[in-house]
Amino acid sequence: MTLYFIGIGLNDEKDISVKGFELVKKADVVYLENYTSKINCNISYLEELYGKKIVLADRKLVEMDAEKTILENAKTKEVAFLVVGDVFSATTHMDLYLRAKKMGIKTGVVHNASVLTAVGITGLQLYKFGKVTSIPIDNENVETPYDVLKVNQQNNMHTLFILDLKEGSNNSLSVNDAIRYLLKVEMKRGERVFTDNTLCVGCVKLGSLDQIIKVGKANELLRCNFKNGMHCLIVPGKMHFMEEGSLKLYQ
Ligand SMILES: C[S@@+](CC[C@H](N)C(=O)[O-])C[C@H]1O[C@@H](n2cnc3c(N)ncnc32)[C@H](O)[C@@H]1O
Repeated sequence: MTLYFIGIGLNDEKDISVKGFELVKKADVVYLENYTSKINCNISYLEELYGKKIVLADRKLVEMDAEKTILENAKTKEVAFLVVGDVFSATTHMDLYLRAKKMGIKTGVVHNASVLTAVGITGLQLYKFGKVTSIPIDNENVETPYDVLKVNQQNNMHTLFILDLKEGSNNSLSVNDAIRYLLKVEMKRGERVFTDNTLCVGCVKLGSLDQIIKVGKANELLRCNFKNGMHCLIVPGKMHFMEEGSLKLYQ
């Protein structure tokens, strides 16, 4: 029997690929990983379209209890493990994949769009992004994202900040939270890596019809009211004139 890792895309129940959909329809058990990202629709829409009950898989189930649940089931059943976005854009899923391989469980992978590629809509060229960094909820003494930005800037690269999910909600930290955090670290470090005048790109609900992309200086975006949902922040590095032209669409 097989454990299928299926990316279901960024927005709603219709973003799954035909290949992924066919595998879900055939599956005996369907898990939806529910802690690294959130789909922009009600889970009941997925259940209705797939005609399957979905088991929400939290971090504990995937990282600690998978041997007794997901992997145990996959020894005798067809199991679909659904991931919002693409499958291997969060490190934790490679761990599950490797554990399945080690146990001799047959696996299959169906890819989909990820936030890591959807940011291409801004016009910033994907191959000019440097290291991606994540801003955690508990960031009181955390300065790594600032350091990553600093190194990316030295290398003329763009920086994508992905933002931790707020516990018990379908929202991540907001673009505003991310800017406030970076300004706070700047106050402490004073290295002029991120100031009120730093150009920022705030992205919300990429891949949906009501996605928001806003370009402006940090202090301008701080005043914007972004809607709830999945947010990320980009700080552009050195830009080609075509990239500058694309960002004008969102000013
Ligand atoms: C671990 S990452 C994404 C992993 C996911 N498997 C993928 O391929 O997109 C999750 C973070 O990316 C950002 N993100 C995810 N989807 C997004 C979207 N549609 N629009 C904006 N940001 C998004 C949020 O900051 C969220 O907390």
